[in-house]
Amino acid sequence: TCIAVLNGPNLNLLGTRSPEIYGTTTLDDVRELCRRESDAAGLELDFRQSNHEGQLIDWIHELGREAQAGRCVGAVYNPGAHTHYAYALRDAIEGAQLPVVEVHISNVHAREEFRHHSVISPVAAGIVVGFGVAGYGLAVRGLIEATRR
Ligand code: DQA
Repeated sequence: TCIAVLNGPNLNLLGTRSPEIYGTTTLDDVRELCRRESDAAGLELDFRQSNHEGQLIDWIHELGREAQAGRCVGAVYNPGAHTHYAYALRDAIEGAQLPVVEVHISNVHAREEFRHHSVISPVAAGIVVGFGVAGYGLAVRGLIEATRR
């Protein structure tokens, strides 16, 4: 059984992009942090990043099928700026019935007004905001907890 971690636009720049906001940890480091949690739970990690909305939609559909078949528990998802406007991603999560935990490295509510609203949150099983990259580990644990039966 797998657990997916999806990253949206610009998260490939993690480590060098606004380090005062996002820190100096790279996305490779985040993958390792997630792997520790998935290993501890005996799950296979499926870690992905794309700058393209359509690619992310296709992945959500694919992972939704895996989740429906019981081969994947769901996805931890940092949608980046898509969070604030990408209705097609919201609809993809709903349509694919993919369990998703939304994660944001920064506390989006303490930042610019346009970051205060998420179109993804209404279809998320849970949300982790403002704990830095450690939030990915918390989200992996939360998703496992939420989907345990
Ligand atoms: C982010 C917050 C978004 O507003 C921003 O566009 C990002 C990263 C975060 O992890 O804090 O790309 O999702």
